[in-house]
Amino acid sequence: MTAQAEPERLNDQQPLIALQHVSRSFKQGRVRVQVLEDINLAVGENEILCLVGESGCGKTTTGKIIAGLLPPSSGEVLFRGRPVSALDNKARAEFRRALQIIHQDPFASLNPAHTVGQILSYPLRRHGMATARGGVRRRIWELLTLVDLTPPGDIVNKFPHQLSGGQRQRVSIARALTVEPQLIVADEAVSMVDVSIRVSLLRTLHRLRDEYGIAIVFITHDLAVAKYFAWEGRIAVMYLGRVVELGPTRDVITRPAHPYTRALISAIPEANPEVTRNKKRMRLRSEDVPSLLEIPRGCAFHPRCPFFVEGLCDVQHPPLEAAPDYRQKVACLPLTQGHKLIEHGP
Ligand SMILES: Nc1ncnc2c1ncn2[C@@H]1O[C@H](COP(=O)(O)OP(=O)(O)O)[C@@H](O)[C@H]1O
Ligand code: SF4
Ligand SMILES: [Mg+2]
Repeated sequence: MTAQAEPERLNDQQPLIALQHVSRSFKQGRVRVQVLEDINLAVGENEILCLVGESGCGKTTTGKIIAGLLPPSSGEVLFRGRPVSALDNKARAEFRRALQIIHQDPFASLNPAHTVGQILSYPLRRHGMATARGGVRRRIWELLTLVDLTPPGDIVNKFPHQLSGGQRQRVSIARALTVEPQLIVADEAVSMVDVSIRVSLLRTLHRLRDEYGIAIVFITHDLAVAKYFAWEGRIAVMYLGRVVELGPTRDVITRPAHPYTRALISAIPEANPEVTRNKKRMRLRSEDVPSLLEIPRGCAFHPRCPFFVEGLCDVQHPPLEAAPDYRQKVACLPLTQGHKLIEHGP
């Protein structure tokens, strides 16, 4: 049985961007693989939403759909309440400009033959964000300062290969900012930089939200990073192309509902090694992640879930919905039906 989830609503505002019943498949060789299924997400202005989950669960595909780089196979993307598929050219250009994406590997996305100054001046001129020569130069200086690449004079004539990984990622952020976006999708944007640089990059991203009101969709495979970055925001936990838990970060982290989220949290190392040693890691029935080509029937997590209820979890599909006693939504049948989870052991 397949029940659909309800499109997500934000309490007090029209979402900047909303995905409603979004699915996406890709042709891989001779087969068509269903990569996303019935995704319902909404992001408000100035909000942080984190997408978390293991590699291959569909985070990047979701991020690209949010940023307008990829159309859904079915379902609708709404920009300020209007379906993107129905936008005229002018409104579509505005949507494209409003949503920017920063990729994991800035080296691959920055033109190696261009200096930082050229990389930034091109979109500024193209979108008419700064025109006269002095205006472009002033804006480049402002942007480099904004992303903590100071003094700008030391950076502006450098080529990407002359910069460190962290500096390159800052150039990517500055380039996204040239068009004054309303939302930035940061896809594993800090995964390739050293831990020491990671924290300051995360702070820079945070400042964009605090000072300029830019919403951020932050994509990471690392729940510990999500916890740190999105403490004031919300988290969507993804598993095999679906959102299985969605709610305020504090609730998801301190009182996870879905067994998959519980397993991810039990695996986060604590700052205190003593605590980590004594922390009980949740044991799954299987460590193997099923292939997207053979998604298990019922709840896709059931072959791994220690709380699996035979005859229910392997039969019925759990839609993402409210559960009694939880502030977050969860796709778990016993929980949404108001039952306690009972561990059966592996
Ligand atoms: N353009 C594409 N063509 C075919 N398969 C794709 C394409 N993009 C992504 N996929 C597949 O979709 C699944 C999810 O990928 P992705 O969204 O990149 O996941 P994540 O970012 O969570 O690692 C993977 O199995 C991947 O191989
Ligand atoms: S629906 Fe069943 S198998 Fe799926 S997460 Fe909940 S208890 Fe586990
Ligand atoms: Mg990815």
